[in-house]
Amino acid sequence: MHPERVGIIGLGATATEAIHQLLEDGQGLDLAALASRKPARVYIETLRWNSHYPERPVKNVTASEGEIIIDGGRIPFQQFEYRRDENEQLINVRELRAWTENQVAIALEATGTMHSLDEALMHINQAGAAAVVIASPAKDKIPSFCIGINENQWDPSSHPVVATESCTTNCAVYPIKILDEHFGVERIFGVSTHIRTGSNQLIDRPNRHEDPRRSRAATVNIIPTTTGAQEGVLRLLPQLADRGVSVKIRSRRVPVDNISLLDLDVTMRQGTQLTTEKLMDLLTEHAQGPLQGIMGIAPEYAVSTMFVGQKLQCIIDPTETIAEGRHATISAWYPNIPGPITGALSMARVMASKL
Ligand SMILES: NC(=O)c1ccc[n+]([C@@H]2O[C@H](COP(=O)([O-])OP(=O)(O)OC[C@H]3O[C@@H](n4cnc5c(N)ncnc54)[C@H](OP(=O)(O)O)[C@@H]3O)[C@@H](O)[C@H]2O)c1
Repeated sequence: MHPERVGIIGLGATATEAIHQLLEDGQGLDLAALASRKPARVYIETLRWNSHYPERPVKNVTASEGEIIIDGGRIPFQQFEYRRDENEQLINVRELRAWTENQVAIALEATGTMHSLDEALMHINQAGAAAVVIASPAKDKIPSFCIGINENQWDPSSHPVVATESCTTNCAVYPIKILDEHFGVERIFGVSTHIRTGSNQLIDRPNRHEDPRRSRAATVNIIPTTTGAQEGVLRLLPQLADRGVSVKIRSRRVPVDNISLLDLDVTMRQGTQLTTEKLMDLLTEHAQGPLQGIMGIAPEYAVSTMFVGQKLQCIIDPTETIAEGRHATISAWYPNIPGPITGALSMARVMASKL
């Protein structure tokens, strides 16, 4: 087995970022195969161009039926679409040949459609991978793992499938963990000023999403909506759930396409005497220490475009972060796709080292 060989399925926005990161500097991971539901040629344009990163070094992308060629490097491609029967059971993962044919050890799931552990295990039992990373929130019994939080607990035999959670969860979990370890967190209320995504509509248009507001035009509205980040934080920090800590996070989708901002109001244990200065010292110590490359500190008086191109999961805003006694408001920026994909690939590296 070649544990460093990664296959990516679902060549949308998330996968495209993963492909670029792996090709620019795989840091021990090799991009071995790709799969998605449309013909390979459909993906040329978004691999070649990105509206937010026009300076990306990819220069030449071509495709044929069975491969995508990026700057001369041939990556095997299989056109493949998950099909489900009338009971919504996946029926055709055995036909996904790209993993076995290309010795893929780690399948990176970026379709956003794989929700149960049994389904994800088919990548291993039927399609030939050794482990699966789902680059989105966990559902069903799929365990959540994030770099800098619990990656040391990863064990190939117990956790062949992991989910690396959403961008908002990835931003929230680090400051919450730090505050909990130092002061004991009792309640967290949060709101994310969140970019519009593919789950919004460009114009008023029916949307299958259970929140009716996702059918409203994301180009002209501030759209209050739900986020799964509260569940994500509790999955990654089960000690909070065990103590009954209330975590409530909401979202406002805004007409911006890159970089979101999370505000977390945190109440800590009675008797906590925190000041803004002490809080920033603590967060800076972690950003420069164990969370280097994961959490950062923004310059003062920041605005969102200053973080285009960043790959951190959480960037604390020192001008907007405040603390008084047992209450703190933490403001943190997050690059929605590059940050969590960097985290997902770091998790894949940990897994590759143990496979
Ligand atoms: N943690 C992170 O890094 C992060 C950050 C942002 C988003 N996400 C999550 O990543 C997931 C994907 O988001 P995205 O923005 O990349 O979505 P997207 O741009 O819509 O991409 C999804 C891709 O999967 C393909 N696909 C969808 N259903 C499929 C099926 N049944 N069989 C095969 N391929 C299928 C789509 O095919 P077509 O080409 O035909 O459309 C598309 O290429 C979502 O769950 C999202 O929440 C994760």
